[in-house]
Amino acid sequence: MALLTAPSITTFLTKTMGDSTASYQSSSDYSSNSTPATTPSTTPDFVLALAKHGLKVTNLNAAHDLMIAIAKDAGTIMLSAEHEFLIAAATKNNTSDLVTQYDSQIEGMVEDRLRTAFPSFGFLGEETFKHGTKLADAPTFICDPIDGTLNFSKGVPNCAISLALTLDKKPVIGVVFNPFRGDLYTAIKNQGAFLTKTATGTSYKLPLQPVPAPMSSLRSCLVAVEWGNQRKGANWDLRTSIHKQLLTDSEEGGAFCKSVRSNGSAALDFCYVAQGILDCFWEGGVWVWDVAGGWAILEEAGGIVASANPGDWDPALEGRLYFAVRHAKRDEQKAVVEELWGMMGERKFVY
Ligand code: IPD
Ligand code: CA
Repeated sequence: MALLTAPSITTFLTKTMGDSTASYQSSSDYSSNSTPATTPSTTPDFVLALAKHGLKVTNLNAAHDLMIAIAKDAGTIMLSAEHEFLIAAATKNNTSDLVTQYDSQIEGMVEDRLRTAFPSFGFLGEETFKHGTKLADAPTFICDPIDGTLNFSKGVPNCAISLALTLDKKPVIGVVFNPFRGDLYTAIKNQGAFLTKTATGTSYKLPLQPVPAPMSSLRSCLVAVEWGNQRKGANWDLRTSIHKQLLTDSEEGGAFCKSVRSNGSAALDFCYVAQGILDCFWEGGVWVWDVAGGWAILEEAGGIVASANPGDWDPALEGRLYFAVRHAKRDEQKAVVEELWGMMGERKFVY
């Protein structure tokens, strides 16, 4: 397990880099499970992609630091939530889809601070989202103020604020913070992904196991699934039938995976896959704010995101169809995705 004693990766980078993107050193260069120091710290393509929007790596680092500060303040609000307001949570789509006053309070705080610091960037948040809004190519902050609101309202300590910055509709920064466990997951494109335990300030490079355990098939996987709040129709039939097939013994035609886990937060499911404590996460129907932060973190931890539906290796961030797979050999990642797609046959989620 790699242990970083530097509590602020970006502080280190900023001190090392000054304002020059050319001399930029990846955070992986000083971690014990890092890739070799000769690995390029960022790609010329990415420098060009940033330049197209008038940005440098240092701008990303500044945004990342601010997002962390905001996430920690959101965590303080979550930790001080009062029971009487939690049990007064309102319903959205139905009785399993909740919103508390803290969701709106946190999103308001996040939007104010991000817009003040980066007035030219877009902002898309779960609680203020207008249906039909599409993500733009311009730099855009994405905010899920509390992912796992049902857990939060019941006092189940698996919920998090999830923040991302997208560029050309791809996540390039992810910050996901669960204050109840003091788990802060962070990533900047080409700079690696990290888990910081806020109680001690100790940072670990992700995935925790730099040489991944073999993942020959779904049988070797602990799989995250969620149940969503749409509990009828063809999507529900497909979801529940795949959950059953994942678990069923191979003697009866199932994948006989180790087990499934439903943690109640898609953002944290992505982070657990990035960390390597879960092997994969198959999900249709969640929204861009549920996954954008975790996606950035997973990719930097060597994971991949395919579609939940068969055939699409390059799913859109807003497409609501995700199959996240942990760091492993490419052919193993591919085999696990194809095995699950094979279980679906001709069936597909429709959103
Ligand atoms: C929920 C979580 C959960 C998923 C639900 C989402 P919310 O987000 O991501 O994992 O199954 O469909 O609504 O509502 O707690 O922000
Ligand atoms: Ca959410």
